[in-house]
Amino acid sequence: MPITVPSLALSTGATIPAMGYGVYMMSSEEVREYLPQALELGYTHIDTANAYFNEVAVGEVIRGAGVAREQLFITSKLFPQSYPYDRCTADIDATLERMGLDYLDLLLLHQPYGDYVHGWRAMEEALRAGKVRAIGLSNFPIHKIAQVMEVAEIAPQVLQVEINPYWNQHALKRELASMGLGDIVFEGWYPLGHGDKALLADPVLAEIAAAHDKTTAQVALRWSIQEGNVVFPKASNLEHMRQNIDIFDFELADNEMARINALPQRPYYEVPEEPPAFVLVENDYTEQA
Ligand SMILES: NC(=O)c1ccc[n+]([C@@H]2O[C@H](COP(=O)([O-])OP(=O)(O)OC[C@H]3O[C@@H](n4cnc5c(N)ncnc54)[C@H](OP(=O)(O)O)[C@@H]3O)[C@@H](O)[C@H]2O)c1
Repeated sequence: MPITVPSLALSTGATIPAMGYGVYMMSSEEVREYLPQALELGYTHIDTANAYFNEVAVGEVIRGAGVAREQLFITSKLFPQSYPYDRCTADIDATLERMGLDYLDLLLLHQPYGDYVHGWRAMEEALRAGKVRAIGLSNFPIHKIAQVMEVAEIAPQVLQVEINPYWNQHALKRELASMGLGDIVFEGWYPLGHGDKALLADPVLAEIAAAHDKTTAQVALRWSIQEGNVVFPKASNLEHMRQNIDIFDFELADNEMARINALPQRPYYEVPEEPPAFVLVENDYTEQA
């Protein structure tokens, strides 16, 4: 039986499934192999990006899956080359065309570099035109979110950043709330520390996992859900895919949440102020099988 995943409310009035399936670093072949299995297990929310070079394969799988479009929640993201206003509009259309979709449920500016202020205006236009149903930012620090807010007519509904038990983002959440953006929905990438063995063997997580007869990965994901975040672990192993969605039949107690929130905090990846080399590469997204 597919597992039913609870949803969170977006400020647009739409809802977003709290658990998704991330396809970062998956080739098109891997997407064609693993995504149908994920859909069968009950994953309905898929997180891709133009820079993942697998939008064609994601679109093909979901169109062929026999699942009604409105039952799915599809996110993509734009890399900074796409941010100048006219190019942004054209690249949103190109993503829709590559995926064979009439609309995306969520579109994010993927990286906080380049002409993101004009990119945001193009995203607002796409939202008004119904090409996307929600818009947001990924990896933006507070001062760059403030720059976007200076021109924004529509505030971001989602912020996708690293979140895991070792980087809980409480400080950023407090700062956003103080800017009047307390209703933004947080999505966590690296929910399992990118598979970090130390995180998956953390003694606090292991003790709590044993008490609930769950794995440390399940406890890390459940913690993030109870923190109010959306999570999308990436898994290519079927047992991992099964485990990761099987976290809605138990609850962490307040003292267990507090113990996890007391773990030492350090991000796996520090988003640099200036664009790193991988962001400056001129990608050709038409090169996809
Ligand atoms: N916006 C951004 O800049 C950004 C950056 C990074 C990631 N993301 C998004 O976040 C998603 C997840 O990130 P990620 O893949 O880097 O990290 P992750 O989900 O934290 O970790 C994935 C790793 O954990 C392993 N794993 C998965 N489930 C497991 C389980 N139950 N027990 C033990 N190991 C398990 C996977 O192995 P197997 O594959 O063998 O199952 C894989 O090696 C991406 O797919 C992407 O959608 C976004």
